[in-house]
Amino acid sequence: MANVILIGTQWGDEGKGKIVDLLTEWAGVVVRFQGGNNAGHTLVIEGQRYALHLIPSGIMRPGKVCVIGSGVVVDLKILLEEIELLKTQSGRDILPQLILSDEAHLILESHRRLDQAREQQRGMAKIGTTGRGIGPAYESKMTRWGLRLGDLLAPDAVLESRLRNLLDQHNRMLVNLYETEPVSFTEVLAELKAAAAIVRPAIRKVPYEMAASLEKNESILFEGAQGTLLDIDHGTYPFVTSSSTLAANACASSGVGVTDIDEVIGVIKAYTTRVGSGPFPVELDDAIGEHLSVRGGEVGTTTGRPRRCGWLDLVALRYATLLNGLSSFALTKLDVLSGLKSIKVCTAYRLHGEVIDYFPSSIEDLEACEPVLTEFAGWDEDISAILDYGQLPENAKKYVSYIEEKLGIKAMLVSVGPDREQTMIRHNPFVG
Ligand code: GDP
Ligand code: IMO
Ligand code: MG
Repeated sequence: MANVILIGTQWGDEGKGKIVDLLTEWAGVVVRFQGGNNAGHTLVIEGQRYALHLIPSGIMRPGKVCVIGSGVVVDLKILLEEIELLKTQSGRDILPQLILSDEAHLILESHRRLDQAREQQRGMAKIGTTGRGIGPAYESKMTRWGLRLGDLLAPDAVLESRLRNLLDQHNRMLVNLYETEPVSFTEVLAELKAAAAIVRPAIRKVPYEMAASLEKNESILFEGAQGTLLDIDHGTYPFVTSSSTLAANACASSGVGVTDIDEVIGVIKAYTTRVGSGPFPVELDDAIGEHLSVRGGEVGTTTGRPRRCGWLDLVALRYATLLNGLSSFALTKLDVLSGLKSIKVCTAYRLHGEVIDYFPSSIEDLEACEPVLTEFAGWDEDISAILDYGQLPENAKKYVSYIEEKLGIKAMLVSVGPDREQTMIRHNPFVG
């Protein structure tokens, strides 16, 4: 038995969903602990593609419990749509597999509208959010006006009064500050009640559920969303998301003690991508960037926006290794580098003429950073059908070893394609 946290080490879209789906074979419980439907986690199982936004990526394995912890912001409309879509795609009703924290906060129509209005107001300085209401929902949580899933179980008068308080404030902002239409209290309430009737049996006290799983020696797999560089504290603020994306938050936001964690896996894409605005020192605006974008299919799972592409950034990855206390990493999309004559890796930054090896906190400094690059010989072979690590081209293995050496941790697996099967596990934390 092992309890494992898996998080993104870059700006999201590292391939977390694929790895979580794979590792769920050995876990009893999979937990999403932060973010919301800004996430887009893709699984490919026997050729069929599934895009999950809110439901944990362990869901395609029948019998595994999938938990949405208190740190997640939940849009019930999206949750119900996702349940319906999975029913159509897989022929299964996954609701009985789900546990939803009564402490998780709700995303309402007014949060979505505020997110979009604020982005519009920022104009050129926009963050490039997913427009899903994530920031405003966390804002309601922090100002202590938010509505939680547990409120749906309260008497009608309690739910109505909490909703009215929140919408009164939101509507004042929408109308007076952003000069747009208000949202309808009656419509939001009706939607909430209809959704509550469906999800009510899944709403539980998650910390007790987690304790019961630990008691039964069931392994827990924590599924991070977004990535370390989008973290609200340590990411490229203000071009970040509104939650803590780090491994440390897995415990707090699900109610599991930190002493119960055995391993922390960081998912690393073999190059770097970013969606939305913000500094990106390794970004490539040339034919190589195009190669990564096209071969890697780098289009956002949630918004369909093209992802910006660049070389692997070891300065950022060393920062992610220390911020998360990584014990190993999962390397994804190595196949995308096939066909490049030379592959470069950023080992330091040059900032105003000085070489630095730390990740600056100020976005102005990060904008001014130029990558110091080390060059590797590439490989031509298509590696997407290789199942044995030893069979990889020597240059591909050298690339992996170099990352291991620079980060001081080992690659527990290497992924060479989107399918569950296109993976070489070198060390499985669940089997010792
Ligand atoms: P997540 O948000 O971290 O779960 O990642 P996304 O699902 O948003 O983006 C990763 C994309 O890469 C998805 O389309 C995956 O199907 C795909 N993918 C994952 N691993 C690999 C891999 O090793 N090789 C290739 N070519 N694609 C991969
Ligand atoms: P997964 O889990 C990549 C980015 C948005 C934007 C910023 C803030 O699939 O890796 P938000 O809507 O969260 O307020 O937007 O964060 N972003 C992501 N980028 N992958 C994600 O999730 C992301 N979730 C948010 O593009 O730049
Ligand atoms: Mg994604």
